[in-house]
Amino acid sequence: MSITDVQPNTKISEFVSTASSFECLREIDPEIYDLTVREIKRQADMVRLIPSENYTSAAVMQAMATPFCNKYSEGYPGKRYYEGNELVDMVENICRERAKALFGADHANVQSHSGSPANMATYFALMKPGDKVLGMHLPSGGHLTHGWNVNFSGILYDTAFYGCNTEQGITGMDPDTGMLDYDEIARIARNFRPNVIFAGGTAYPRAWDFKRFREIADEVDAYLVADIAHVNGLIIGGVHPDPVPYADVVTSTTHKAIRGPRGGFILCKNRPMKDDPSASLPDRIDKAVFPTLQGGPHNNTIAALAVCFAEAATEEFRQYARQIVANAQALARELTDLGWHLVTGGTDNHLILVDVMKSVKIPGKPFAKALYTAGLETNFNSVPNDPRKPFSPSGLRIGTPATTSRGFKETEMVQIARWMDRVAKACKKDGKDYIFDEMVLGDIRSEVLALCTDPRFPVPGIDI
Ligand SMILES: Cc1ncc(COP(=O)(O)O)c(C=O)c1O
Repeated sequence: MSITDVQPNTKISEFVSTASSFECLREIDPEIYDLTVREIKRQADMVRLIPSENYTSAAVMQAMATPFCNKYSEGYPGKRYYEGNELVDMVENICRERAKALFGADHANVQSHSGSPANMATYFALMKPGDKVLGMHLPSGGHLTHGWNVNFSGILYDTAFYGCNTEQGITGMDPDTGMLDYDEIARIARNFRPNVIFAGGTAYPRAWDFKRFREIADEVDAYLVADIAHVNGLIIGGVHPDPVPYADVVTSTTHKAIRGPRGGFILCKNRPMKDDPSASLPDRIDKAVFPTLQGGPHNNTIAALAVCFAEAATEEFRQYARQIVANAQALARELTDLGWHLVTGGTDNHLILVDVMKSVKIPGKPFAKALYTAGLETNFNSVPNDPRKPFSPSGLRIGTPATTSRGFKETEMVQIARWMDRVAKACKKDGKDYIFDEMVLGDIRSEVLALCTDPRFPVPGIDI
């Protein structure tokens, strides 16, 4: 039987030994099999509080482990450089249409290998090297690709930032509250005259006012790019402002709140380019992804992304997105009640930026390490106007997409805040070192493990 003759819904095991059972892996490569099993267990047994991580569904992982990974398909549906892409074309078309429907966008490109390449393609589509970009300052909560000097964006383009750093003269964020100051961002834009403005970040715990960014971009005739890597799922759930009506281009990763495979996508308006009205923005974006930046797309990832978009289009997902925010706010409330200092005083979204130094006089890095020993997985992070260096900053970034995926609710959030508080109280400063009481960390680890192995909180996609 030829593969194209297959009836819909035919069981796949008739053709391939399913990767999800890992049997072949165990036989062929016991070393990698063993590490895989340990990573499965590690992910299940920790309370995952890294706001940029999540658990994908079994369906998404199964789509990733398909023979679509074997196929080369440089180009786009209907215009490939290789034969044999009739089914790949169907997968990519389904994925693009689902992305457009989910976000209400004119055009979708789903080939970017990840969030950074999606941003890079957007730079190439909208600007020439040497042109000007205004983005959020990395230590104030922005991303490397929004103009930071060690990244392609800071190397190839002329950059300016909004954020808060008194030493470096960075403004655009209220130094007392940590909130974006849109009037000041408008002033920076008027002085700098950027070609592109990026709205979006990695550690800003408040909603992005994309309408206001549009007004600023219009005033200086800049393109507006909304990078929704962190808040994509919340936008779908209606619990974060929607950039699609305002931004020329929307870029995103696919593996954070939206709960897909590791990848990226780009949405854009169907509009002519400013430098050449005969050229269209969708066409420029597509050409920037391929052939400017990438070769063959990762078709298995695109198949998995299509599955992710189908899952995200359900009422169940919208409910999940609402719970992410409710959980983050419950966690923020309890930490505040326990006397912790949160940047901006709380959260509107999925993440909380804790000023650990100001709260308990412990830098973010040793605190994150101690939390990990206790079973709480987080990451240390700079806070706006951080007096400490980026490799040992003052803050800790935590978020709720992953814990919400396993069914944690407000009660568990209160418990997490109390564990964090207990870890801090177990710390003594010894000279330059921060020493945590191992017994206390061990006790908390046992409590965390009990919660993680509670059958009420299974990890999606991981069946132990
Ligand atoms: C706002 C933002 N943009 C882009 C990226 C880059 O994504 P990736 O790590 O997939 O390249 C990230 C990842 O953390 C992000 O938070």
